[in-house]
Amino acid sequence: VIPVDRLHHVTVVVRDLGTAARNHATVFGIDRWDVAHQAAGRLRDTSAFGFAAPFSYSTATGTTPGGITFRLVQPTGGLSTFAEFLVTRGEGIHSICVAALEEPALRELSAELRDQGVTAGQGATVDGATHRWFDTRRALGGYFVEVMAPSGEDGRVDERWELRAAPGAPDGLEALREVPRVFHLGVAVESLMERLPAYASLLGLPEWTFVHFRPEPGSLERATLDGEEVRHAFFLAKADFPDFGLELIQPTMGPTHYRRHMLDPLGEGIHHLLLLPDEREGRWHGLRGAMETLGAPVATSGSVRNGAAEYFYLDTRQLLGGYLVEAIVRYVRPAEGPPRRGEPDYRFDFSTRAAI
Ligand SMILES: [Fe+2]
Repeated sequence: VIPVDRLHHVTVVVRDLGTAARNHATVFGIDRWDVAHQAAGRLRDTSAFGFAAPFSYSTATGTTPGGITFRLVQPTGGLSTFAEFLVTRGEGIHSICVAALEEPALRELSAELRDQGVTAGQGATVDGATHRWFDTRRALGGYFVEVMAPSGEDGRVDERWELRAAPGAPDGLEALREVPRVFHLGVAVESLMERLPAYASLLGLPEWTFVHFRPEPGSLERATLDGEEVRHAFFLAKADFPDFGLELIQPTMGPTHYRRHMLDPLGEGIHHLLLLPDEREGRWHGLRGAMETLGAPVATSGSVRNGAAEYFYLDTRQLLGGYLVEAIVRYVRPAEGPPRRGEPDYRFDFSTRAAI
């Protein structure tokens, strides 16, 4: 139903726009930020949670040298979904903007989604451009999907910030600057099979591949969480758009980062961005050291495919705004057992409802 064209921007709700922009400049090399103050008088037709409601916010929008656009949002007044997100969950990824439509098409889409039980959780007209943040929190897992109808005057900029990496920023961060796209958004959910039908019906992603990572040779070994070795397991499902992917994760056993730091305290939501799917050891060590210096150490990791690859999540929640960054390191040294093929455990197609 939602005609996903590309990942226009990832919207991160933050407490302080300046701090978050500076930290994104340091980590991702985003040196130019377009800042807009969306205040009363400039915003029209504002609604939140399905009710007409006044609110205001400021945004800083910047793109990495590789081409990933972050829109940082600081609520500045009223109870918007941005403000409510910050109050109830803290900083984090509130929404992803995945389509730009003409105004009539956006109106049609709103009606179609309403028929499917998805309301426009938030709306606003900004300099003549319409923005809708559809309330897909229940359907997809804790986040909104933004669709916009741009106008000629869209993108009015109040300030332009030129930011350089903080003085004394460590070396080793180059890898993150070149990342060409978000390889996947990792969403922590309670149940894959309860969420995935909506990914088929709302986003047009019917075909998913599944892997159950579990503490077994060749599956998941040497797992760590918050600096300790753990035995845990999780069931994950993946599907891709041409320009970005989605990964849903359901923890199934033991203490996991998804459950300890997201599902239990906050509920479902976008947990991480996979930005480095194919790192080599040398560059990874440089990056890991640099991120530790910046206060973003490894939060959880695990070795997969008989030691041929290892994944790491950098705890960038404080530094960047509630989300983690994933890197997968592929080792060129021989794997410790027979190299396990990357075949998924299961495939499932959600396109045809059974007539029973
Ligand atoms: Fe992931």
